[in-house]
Amino acid sequence: MTLETFSHFNLVSFEKIDTSIYQSLDELFKAVASEIATLILTKQKKGETAVLGLATGATPKKVYTELIRMHKEEGLSFENVVCFNLDEYCGIPSTAIQSYKTFMNENLFNHINIKEENCNIPNGNISTELLKQHCDEYEKKIDSYGGIDFQLLGIGRNGHIGFNEPGSHVSSVTRLITLDHLTRFDAAYEFGGMANVPRKAITMGIGTILKAKRIVLMAWGERKASIIQQAVEGIVTEYIPASYLQGHKNASFVLDESCSTELARRKTPWLTDMVKWDNAMIRKGVIYLAQLLNKSILKLTNNDYNQNGLSDLLALHGQAYDINIEVFNQLQHTITGWPGGKPNSDDANRPERANPAKKRVLIFSPHPDDDIISMGGTFQRLVDQGHEVHVAYQTSGNIAVADDEALRFIEFVKDYNKQFGVKSAETEKMYDEALAFLKVKKNGEKDIEALRKVKGIIRVGEAKNTCRFVGVSLSNAHFLDLPFYETGLVEKMPIGEADFEIIANVIDKIKPHQIYAAGDLADPHGTHKVCLDGVFEAVKRLKHNEYMKDCWLWLYKGAWAEWDIDLIEMVVPMSPDQVLKKRNGIFKHQSQKDGVVFQGADSREFWKRAEDRNRGTAELYNKLGLAEYEAMEAFVRWKF
Ligand code: F6R
Repeated sequence: MTLETFSHFNLVSFEKIDTSIYQSLDELFKAVASEIATLILTKQKKGETAVLGLATGATPKKVYTELIRMHKEEGLSFENVVCFNLDEYCGIPSTAIQSYKTFMNENLFNHINIKEENCNIPNGNISTELLKQHCDEYEKKIDSYGGIDFQLLGIGRNGHIGFNEPGSHVSSVTRLITLDHLTRFDAAYEFGGMANVPRKAITMGIGTILKAKRIVLMAWGERKASIIQQAVEGIVTEYIPASYLQGHKNASFVLDESCSTELARRKTPWLTDMVKWDNAMIRKGVIYLAQLLNKSILKLTNNDYNQNGLSDLLALHGQAYDINIEVFNQLQHTITGWPGGKPNSDDANRPERANPAKKRVLIFSPHPDDDIISMGGTFQRLVDQGHEVHVAYQTSGNIAVADDEALRFIEFVKDYNKQFGVKSAETEKMYDEALAFLKVKKNGEKDIEALRKVKGIIRVGEAKNTCRFVGVSLSNAHFLDLPFYETGLVEKMPIGEADFEIIANVIDKIKPHQIYAAGDLADPHGTHKVCLDGVFEAVKRLKHNEYMKDCWLWLYKGAWAEWDIDLIEMVVPMSPDQVLKKRNGIFKHQSQKDGVVFQGADSREFWKRAEDRNRGTAELYNKLGLAEYEAMEAFVRWKF
């Protein structure tokens, strides 16, 4: 179900292109797949060919999964379909795991009845002499089918469509292009490091794309929210190639909820529609106003409200003075140095209950370092304040260990065994296998199980080291090794029964008063999101148990982003010393320190990201007029 389809029916629209927002990702994928299927069927009835323009990457993968399902279960035939892919890397064999040809074969073509000759992908290995001709022929071939009926697009974080990087001309055609730094950076993981990412690609042009009869640009996840806002609400500019779509008469953006958060209808809904001014909306409005005017909350005047689209709020709730105080107090009450509740004190205005004074706390850490990175200060306080703290490490995190780091440990074990005459045939075998594989491993190739085990053990050791450092007994460190993660690839299996059971078991065993989980939807590979879904499902299954009635679930954000300030329900301040201690706790994760296999969209090391973010939150509070702290960790309570 779309939440809102046609924003131009709203009071005021800032959106310059038709934009639909879907509540769930599944619904989004199904809606796009179903539009494609309807086109194919309509064309079939008329005995015509359906010409599809297709994209690769994470964005459309599940649309292809749904089309495959429709083919297998509903008999959707691709006999009459001709596909043209947007782009292809240059300089890698078409059989490489990272080539878009391989991607399309594995994710769609191999599983449907499309004719091989109908699958068109630019040839990234064409010689320089033949390149121009190849590109011209690609254009001509599209035209020979009467043009593209339906063009599916993703969007890069720099606003590219296809590989039309910023600066691409509106009438550009299929051509060779130099990839942007950001594009290469985002692809670094698939290629096992920036150095291996191709510098050039062949892409259909903006002009080619705009000739399509229907265009759907899909985007999901918080990471794309900012570029989506610029493409949908900003001016048409070559700096954001996706903004050219504003000029197409039949183009739509389809988004999920988390990708729409920067659009005016989400960020300032009172400017685009009638809103219900409940507590949460008032808080959002007032914080927005204070930030817009760079004023502290208590300094906002009636005039400020009236001149910035918030006169409605004044009309309903009286003077700025009263609203300011109300919101200021709400924010004040989110601040606590007692994340587990302050014993023997009035807790009416505190984020956590005073009782029981000593709580059982269960921290879910999706990867082995999220506990310390994202809530290290709070983790330390919970331990120092005498709560029984457990950490459940949800996944092994093995794919984020670099090969040379694994090699170092393998050599250590082998040298140790040799020097001290330790003999364990099985261990030796595992380490030998891993070593032999490392010697012949190809770029981006999936690790064999023995190597994954070595990498997993490295991360277990680091997590244990952090626990010791914070003061958590190792018997309270639970390594869940959730099966969905264990593919050895970025692509994980869907979360399933076995995962739910493991998560539910650990909750049931500990019977916690507090659960902390990563409420992070911006993790580039979605592991945090899947781990959160696992916690939600486990909690749903257990919620009828007596002990769950006394259990509160707090969500922290992973390393990538922070909660919007108006949503925060608990912030835990940190002193300069506590910030330093947290930094040292993060340093225990040596395999993640430099040259992390996957660095994400941000090249800062994890300790730096965490500190910048925690300092940023403290600064925001301070700017709104609250006390000045060195840093703060923020949480939102999830009520079930
Ligand atoms: C891929 C393509 C690109 C991607 C974009 C987003 O064929 O043309 O424009 O759509 O880079 O990539 P993902 O979906 O991996 O975030």
